[in-house]
Amino acid sequence: MSGLFITLEGPEGAGKSTNRDYLAERLREQGIEVLLTREPGGTPLAERVRELLLAQSDEPMAADTELLLVFAARAQHLARVIGPALARGCVVLCDRFTDATYAYQGGGRGLSEARIALLENFVQGELRPDLTLVFDLPIEVGLARAAARGRLDRFEQEGQGFFEAVRQTYLRRASLEPQRYRIVDAAQSLSQVQQALDALLPHIVGLCRG
Ligand SMILES: Nc1ncnc2c1ncn2[C@@H]1O[C@H](COP(=O)(O)OP(=O)(O)OP(=O)(O)O)[C@@H](O)[C@H]1O
Ligand SMILES: [Mg+2]
Repeated sequence: MSGLFITLEGPEGAGKSTNRDYLAERLREQGIEVLLTREPGGTPLAERVRELLLAQSDEPMAADTELLLVFAARAQHLARVIGPALARGCVVLCDRFTDATYAYQGGGRGLSEARIALLENFVQGELRPDLTLVFDLPIEVGLARAAARGRLDRFEQEGQGFFEAVRQTYLRRASLEPQRYRIVDAAQSLSQVQQALDALLPHIVGLCRG
């Protein structure tokens, strides 16, 4: 038996975490077993790597270091949480995954796609998400939502150009593989976003039931 791997992506403050929880409730109502997790992180060790990635530090982090830490955390997450859950037949809802690496370390930091793809293959083998929801919105709207939450992390302090590249990378990847991605207009009110997710629910439930 093998489960279903769904990832939620999008820039800061797009509503990934809020809507991951909403989607989990809707799926559980249908009797579907759901595991919620996030990246970077998802295990105690990987959460420690997350802290390294997000913390401000006097020593600038080299882009390759950032990339390797992201994939180190991902290897742990896959081995300890995602892999076993999929093997049990769970639906895994993961807040960010490798599309975020292409968007942030690729688009944002300018690392080559080929370099990221190398590590993707190394760490994940053939595993790719079955479905990826991209929460898309103008970056200033998302940053304002994130800022309202409090102190900014190491990524949230980047400039406009960084986040514009993040957004465009997500949109470009979605356009290249439309069967895997669904773009959600995340600039709408939360209730409108949730209506859009309700409209996607039959598709998602269909995938879950295989
Ligand atoms: N459609 C919406 N309209 C207005 N506010 C929203 C909407 N969606 C989420 N929010 C609010 O915006 C903030 C950010 O949402 P959330 O934490 O879900 O975003 P996120 O994509 O997980 O952000 P991050 O990338 O920083 O983890 C929260 O306070 C949330 O309540
Ligand atoms: Mg979040």
